[in-house]
Amino acid sequence: MSPILLLAVSSFFFLFSSVSAAAGLGVGLVRSSTFLNCISHHTPPLTHVNKLVLSVLAPKYQNIFQASIQNPRFKFPGAPTPAFIITPESAVHVRAAVVCTKGLGLAVRVRSGGHDYEGLSYRANEPFVLIDLVNLRKVRVFPKRGMAKVQSGATLGELYYWIANRTKTHGFPAGTCPTIGVGGHFSGGGKGTLTRKYGLAADNILDAIVVKADGEIVNREAMGEDLFWAIRGGGGGNFGIVVEWTIKLVPVPSKVTLFSTDEIEMYDGGTDLFYKWQKIAPMLVDDLFIRATIYITGIEYLSTVKVSFNGFFLGTTSELLSVLSAAFPELGVMQKHCRESSWIESVKAFNDGYKEGETIEVLLDRNHYKTGGPFKAKSDFVTQAISRKRLKAIWQVFLDIYPGMMILDPYGGMMDRISEFETPFPHRKGTLYSIQYYNNWSPMEAADEKKNLNRVKRLYNFMGPFVSKNPRASYVNYRDLDLGVNGNGGYNESKRWGESYFKGNFERLVKIKGKVDPENFFRSEQSIPLP
Ligand SMILES: Cc1cc2nc3c(=O)[nH]c(=O)nc-3n(C[C@H](O)[C@H](O)[C@H](O)COP(=O)(O)OP(=O)(O)OC[C@H]3O[C@@H](n4cnc5c(N)ncnc54)[C@H](O)[C@@H]3O)c2cc1C
Ligand SMILES: *[C@@H]1O[C@H](CO)[C@@H](O)[C@H](O)[C@H]1NC(C)=O
Ligand SMILES: *[C@@H]1O[C@H](CO)[C@@H](O)[C@H](O)[C@H]1NC(C)=O
Repeated sequence: MSPILLLAVSSFFFLFSSVSAAAGLGVGLVRSSTFLNCISHHTPPLTHVNKLVLSVLAPKYQNIFQASIQNPRFKFPGAPTPAFIITPESAVHVRAAVVCTKGLGLAVRVRSGGHDYEGLSYRANEPFVLIDLVNLRKVRVFPKRGMAKVQSGATLGELYYWIANRTKTHGFPAGTCPTIGVGGHFSGGGKGTLTRKYGLAADNILDAIVVKADGEIVNREAMGEDLFWAIRGGGGGNFGIVVEWTIKLVPVPSKVTLFSTDEIEMYDGGTDLFYKWQKIAPMLVDDLFIRATIYITGIEYLSTVKVSFNGFFLGTTSELLSVLSAAFPELGVMQKHCRESSWIESVKAFNDGYKEGETIEVLLDRNHYKTGGPFKAKSDFVTQAISRKRLKAIWQVFLDIYPGMMILDPYGGMMDRISEFETPFPHRKGTLYSIQYYNNWSPMEAADEKKNLNRVKRLYNFMGPFVSKNPRASYVNYRDLDLGVNGNGGYNESKRWGESYFKGNFERLVKIKGKVDPENFFRSEQSIPLP
């Protein structure tokens, strides 16, 4: 992702931390002792409640609050802050947090990795408690049984690292950014380089431990198949708090291969190549995943649109080259573009945020990779290849949203063979590829936020005729509040964004929500509404 501007933003925002802390103060002081008493009442004797619960005046409050905010768009003076942060170390602690938050009549936000595009895991427009799962991140791998148990506050990097630490023949199909939390990610689907071969993270979940709104702690058997279905793709923050996932590991060979093509200008063959990629990439063998990235280089007014292709292959370089020479010779991939490694090395190398010389231990660093500057993203799914003529028109509009980019992931393979109803994630058979529109800007441009948000919107609006319709589909893990938010209109009003994320599965999610959280405790601007 070289085109992303990597900017040092943290110190800039640190200035404001004391200002925003004041916002939560009123609630904090008044109710602090009530909340602490409730927590100690609901946790085992000798629990260090003062370590578990941070009120706004606690020295660590700001550090923990800011630590995993991934989108600096939501760090600004006066941004909403939680009345309390609680950092549970067990399911019982999570239950105490739920019971006591409800008891105080406060709202709740749950955070695992903090990567939510719209910050819904750590901001709310009503007084709230933040349940931050940063201390719940044990990963236990059982190579012989081909499975693992991962607590939801673990990051993908931690999960991948500990899998590779225990076995060289297993991996797991999930996202490409190692700092993502498995709590939110698996809840919304979770896709990456292994998805054409093995499906989503959510397709590979065997069991889970969930704390429900009524405080009950349940596993798959106790929660029943409806709730177990809903938590595997129905979006985080809706049905309960996932404390731990049991996952099925997938086989990986001892050598995998990554490649990156040279950048190609759209007006110099790039358009042709991209046109072909649309038709070929979704039909390739499942072992091969080729992402296209479209971006702008040059300076404003003298810029040009380019494309590059990044591939991941479950096999050696020579096997890859023979597959490509038969299926996609136009791509021009040669030995020099390829790099053979273990699966775990490829996880690190696929992401540009990690440098060549770094050892795989960097995958354990939760703060290693930060997106540069505030950002806004939107998503689409494409079911019919877009013509060359239309592509050229798209590049023109795209030039306007400088310095944004589009990331396009091919579907097909396993994704075609899993039914649309198997999990809440419905974007399966018939999808050629997904698009993520992404624009980020410097924090110094905060005043221009509207302009930057509008740029993405314009491109998205222009794309309407070329992408999926009725509904125009979106990926819930690329959360986008422009699609609509919950209001007084209830279910009817939420249908638009709900069906965009879940198509026909939205209705089933609403029914399940009514059963497991009838008081709508787990609510946000875009939570599944009650029936
Ligand atoms: C830089 C970057 C790269 C990304 N790359 C990919 C990618 O390769 N593939 C992909 O599929 N997605 C990708 N995403 C999107 C990512 O999958 C989602 O943002 C995901 O929801 C993040 O999970 P989290 O735990 O980090 O986020 P959080 O912000 O902590 O949570 C997201 C949502 O889930 C809820 N939630 C969190 N934990 C729990 C829990 N334990 N139980 C119930 N609800 C919970 C939150 O309340 C919130 O609503 C990327 C995002 C970023 C910022
Ligand atoms: C596994 O992790 C431990 C602890 O970090 C480390 O000492 C050991 O060398 C690792 N083993 C392998 C095979 O990576
Ligand atoms: C929702 O829409 C249905 C069908 O259009 C209608 O009958 C119902 O009254 C609407 N409900 C609300 C709360 O607006």
